[in-house]
Amino acid sequence: MRMIDLIEKKKQGDKLTYDELKYIIDSYVSGLIPDYQVSALLMAIYFVGMDDIETTNLSKVMLESGDSLDLSSIDGIKVDKHSTGGVGDKTSLVLGPMVAALGIKFAKMSGKGLGHTGGTLDKLEAIPGYRINISDEEFIEQVKDINIALVGQSGNLTPADKKLYALRDVTATVDSIPLIASSIMSKKLASGADAIVLDVKVGNGAFMKDLESARDLARLMVKIGANCGRKMTAVLTDMDEPLGYAVGNSLEVIEAINTLNGNGPSDLLDLCVEIGAYLVVDAYKASSIEEAKNMLLETIRNKKAIEYLIKLVEKQGGDISYIKDINKFPKSKYVIEIKAAKNGYVSKIDSLMIGHAAMLLGAGRSKLEDKIDNSVGIVLNKKVSNYVSQDEVLATVYSNKNNIDEVLEIIKAAFIISNNSEIKSLILEVIK
Ligand code: URA
Repeated sequence: MRMIDLIEKKKQGDKLTYDELKYIIDSYVSGLIPDYQVSALLMAIYFVGMDDIETTNLSKVMLESGDSLDLSSIDGIKVDKHSTGGVGDKTSLVLGPMVAALGIKFAKMSGKGLGHTGGTLDKLEAIPGYRINISDEEFIEQVKDINIALVGQSGNLTPADKKLYALRDVTATVDSIPLIASSIMSKKLASGADAIVLDVKVGNGAFMKDLESARDLARLMVKIGANCGRKMTAVLTDMDEPLGYAVGNSLEVIEAINTLNGNGPSDLLDLCVEIGAYLVVDAYKASSIEEAKNMLLETIRNKKAIEYLIKLVEKQGGDISYIKDINKFPKSKYVIEIKAAKNGYVSKIDSLMIGHAAMLLGAGRSKLEDKIDNSVGIVLNKKVSNYVSQDEVLATVYSNKNNIDEVLEIIKAAFIISNNSEIKSLILEVIK
């Protein structure tokens, strides 16, 4: 096989076979094919696309490029969830303990945030002492013992994705549906869970800006997982406003703790209950989605879910006194209120702008090596459809820098205030 012939084949609109994709990925990972040829292939895929079979095969060969986690020694159904990346998305911190409290094995590897979206790992690292890197053996033992582990991706899982993603990032080929689907699904398949729920975010703060493309991505990922024997569900959710109120690492951990204590924002809790319900049914712990939702809500009422967060943090070396007393989390030096310029209803809160502003405050990274400031961020005082009077507080900004007029302007401009209110639903569609 010659790489140039395979680039030509894809360029002409033909389908690549499993063997051809295997040759490409294995040769690329071992350094036998240069970046410039793979870049050309990625651009051909970007324009020509790939069908379901090709994308499944690409996911499989990416999965086979490294190690996979074998969770078969853990009894029962192992579950996982993945979000395509949002603003204020602390779902895993809430959902994981709720599901674990029902005796379901929640085995999740998470990523770091980049750009305007936050990553679960960064939030976990806001808890002093929490170890995100544990060995595969420890990961498995922990899931057996306390039903839950939330860790970083281990060493040699899908090296093909790491190399390809870095190349896509600099060749303008990130936003290709088959490339996103195979990137996400190769990692999910390698993490070993039997049942997976994908939270596919739609809106201006998400990769997929419109419902149509989010639906295409969701269907493709569900198909890849099902083709590989996994129970799959994709939930399409709105990202036209941040999830919950808090954006920024410690602030989001505090909001997750409050939610597990029964005092959280309703959109966050609703999303966790919706996503969690599919996992509960797939793990055969409930026979209907309604029953599953009630069981999940009960874990908040009976305090079992917060107990499981404490168990998780303790097991992974974190200081549980922070979970028991949220006032221990370090505070930022400055607290600034953003006020409404006029009366009206909040009709939109631009998530991309809020995420970008949080990143500029130091809550996120623009480059992978950037250091994060856990104490900074933004807390919304108003959500979409709320009425606001002139000079009422729209958002509170937590900062360690005092020269942030530009950031404050971005946050203010993110709030659109109009004369009428429109209630949008958070859960847009479910694809099985
Ligand atoms: N997240 C991933 O892991 N991969 C992509 O390609 C896009 C989002």
